[in-house]
Amino acid sequence: MNTKAFIFDLDGVIVDTAKYHFLAWEKIANELGFEFTHENNELLKGVSRVRSLDIILEIGKVTASQEAKNRWLIQKNEDYLSYLVDMDESEILQGVMPILNYLKERNQLIALGSASKNARPILEKTGTLDFFDAIVDGNDVSNAKPDPEVFLLAAKLLNTKPEDSIVFEDSVAGVQAANIGGMISVGIGEASTLHEAKYLFKDFTQMDKTFIDNLINN
Ligand code: BG6
Ligand code: MG
Repeated sequence: MNTKAFIFDLDGVIVDTAKYHFLAWEKIANELGFEFTHENNELLKGVSRVRSLDIILEIGKVTASQEAKNRWLIQKNEDYLSYLVDMDESEILQGVMPILNYLKERNQLIALGSASKNARPILEKTGTLDFFDAIVDGNDVSNAKPDPEVFLLAAKLLNTKPEDSIVFEDSVAGVQAANIGGMISVGIGEASTLHEAKYLFKDFTQMDKTFIDNLINN
C-alpha cells in the first residue's frame, strides 16, 4: 500500500485561531492609531510573529525602536493566549476530524507544519496531538513561509520525499512554500486568495474520501 505524508498547517486549517491572531494584532494597530483590516490580515497568515509586527508597522507607517517592538510582541502573544485559555475540541474546524480519522484508517503519515510557537499547547487543548507522527512548528525553523523549510523538515522527519507529501494550507505564503518545496498544495479557503494552490477546497467538509484515496494512490 502507498504511504504519503499529509502535512497540516495549524492556524486556519485545523483550528479557528486566525480570528484570535487578527483581534490581537488589531488591538495593537488601534493603539498605535491606525486601522487594521481583514484584507491586511491576509498578509499575516502563515507569517511568523516577528515578521507580522514588521508588516503591521509598515501598514501604519510606524517606525519603532527594538525595545518598543519587543514590548508589542509580548503584548500580542499575551493577548492571543488569553483567547486560548478555555480552548477545547469545539475550536477544531468542521470536517477536520473525519479527514484525520480517515488518514489514520488508511495508515498514512501525518505531520504538523506551522509557523506558530504556540502549536503544541493548541494541539493538546484540542485533543489532536496524538494524530501527529511529526510536529514542526515555529520553534524548529529559522526561515518563515514562503520558504519551504517547515514542510521539508516535516517530510524529512516522516522519511518521505517532497513529491510524496501533501500540504493543507489556508495562507498564500503557505501554499507558495508547499509549491516551492515540490509538494502537492491543497488550499483551504477562497479561490480569490489561494489561486496558486494545486487543489482548492472552501473547507474540509467539501473534501471527500475519494480525493484522499486519489492522493494516496497517485
Ligand atoms: C501562523 C499564523 O500559523 O503562526 C500567523 O497564521 C501567526 O498568523 C504565526 O503570526 C505565528 O504564531 P505564534 O502563535 O507563534 O504567534
Ligand atoms: Mg494558517
